[in-house]
Amino acid sequence: MDDCSHILPSGIIDAHGRTIKFLAYEESYYQGLREMYDTFEPKGVEAGLPPANEELRHKWIDMMLSSFFNIVAIHNEIVIGHAALDILVESGSPEYLIFIKKQFRYCGIGTRLSETIRRIAKDVGCKRLWLNVRTGNAIAIKVFKKVGFRFTGGIDIQREMELIFDRGKKSR
Ligand SMILES: CC(C)(COP(=O)(O)OP(=O)(O)OC[C@H]1O[C@@H](n2cnc3c(N)ncnc32)[C@H](O)[C@@H]1OP(=O)(O)O)[C@@H](O)C(=O)NCCC(=O)NCCS
Repeated sequence: MDDCSHILPSGIIDAHGRTIKFLAYEESYYQGLREMYDTFEPKGVEAGLPPANEELRHKWIDMMLSSFFNIVAIHNEIVIGHAALDILVESGSPEYLIFIKKQFRYCGIGTRLSETIRRIAKDVGCKRLWLNVRTGNAIAIKVFKKVGFRFTGGIDIQREMELIFDRGKKSR
């Protein structure tokens, strides 16, 4: 999964004309990723968001970097987004996480990053991706539905969504 450079777009232009690069995580982005999460809003008000407590937040970042497959979104050398697949727990059916810095939301970056992750997951043979999302998080739900996620299970404050790969079809 580390060699996904053939799938990553060389650069995308967001709705404000900003050039954004999607790159496989490397240690040189560590400080930038921490800074993104230290200033991230909102924190910890719902499951899946970065913990509000600094120590827990830094442990949470380190946990993702040690056991997840990570892509960073970069603008002018600054980390403005992060997407991750939990490949350690279950490589064929990993959990998907995505976070975009506030000033860069609603500009198409989350959709393009999710499409990219979808292609990578399909390329390495994942059968399914899944995630938990708050039912009121309409924007996240819209993005996830656009790239093929569907709700599973019953209606609750938080719901699981999944994307099942059809082996017969090519990824979008
Ligand atoms: C959720 C998130 C990853 C989406 O990324 P993004 O870059 O903001 O999303 P995009 O710009 O690609 O797409 C947003 C979509 O929501 C739409 N949208 C904007 N405001 C909306 C609203 N109030 N209600 C519904 N849809 C809305 C946009 O029109 C766009 O859809 P379109 O492309 O069909 O027009 C990002 O907003 C984020 O990091 N949010 C905070 C953290 C989070 O919620 N993470 C997910 C936890 S499960």
